[in-house]
Amino acid sequence: MKILLFVIFLLTSFCKFAFSEEQQIITISEEHQIIAMGDIEYGEYLGSECAACHQQSGASEGIPSINGMDAEVFVALLLAYRAKLMENPVMQMIAGRLDDEQIGSLALYFSTLEPPK
Ligand code: HEC
Repeated sequence: MKILLFVIFLLTSFCKFAFSEEQQIITISEEHQIIAMGDIEYGEYLGSECAACHQQSGASEGIPSINGMDAEVFVALLLAYRAKLMENPVMQMIAGRLDDEQIGSLALYFSTLEPPK
C-alpha cells in the first residue's frame, strides 16, 4: 500500500513537472529567444556603427540614446523597424540588414552600457 501511494505521488509530481515545463516553453517569447542567440562581443563590434547616430551621452538632434536600454524592449523595437511596423526609414533600412543573432547581440551589448544621466 505504501508503495502504491509512493507511485501515485511520483506520478502526480511528474505530471506537475511536465505541465510546468510546457507552460514555460509557451511563455518564452520571441524576444527571449533572440536575446539567447546573442553574443556581447559581437554586439560591441556591430554597435560601433550605431554610435555614429546614437550618441553615448544621451539624446542628440532628436536621436534617442540606446545605452542601457532593456534588452527585450531593444529587440522588440528592432523587430518592429525590420517589419516596417515603425515608420523611420533609416532604422527600417538598418534593421532590415540585421539577422536575429545580430539583433540579439546588439541588445545584450547596449543593455550593459550606462544609460545617459
Ligand atoms: C543614420 C543614423 C542612425 C544609425 C546609424 C542608427 N540609428 Fe537607430 N535610430 C535613428 C533615429 C533617427 C531613430 C529615431 C527613429 C524614430 O523616431 O522612430 C532611431 C531609433 C532607434 C531605436 C529606438 C530608440 C527608442 O528609444 O525609440 C533603436 C533601438 C535603435 N535606433 C537602434 C539602432 C541600432 C542597434 C543601430 C546600429 C545597428 C542604429 N540604431 C543605428 C538613427 C540611426
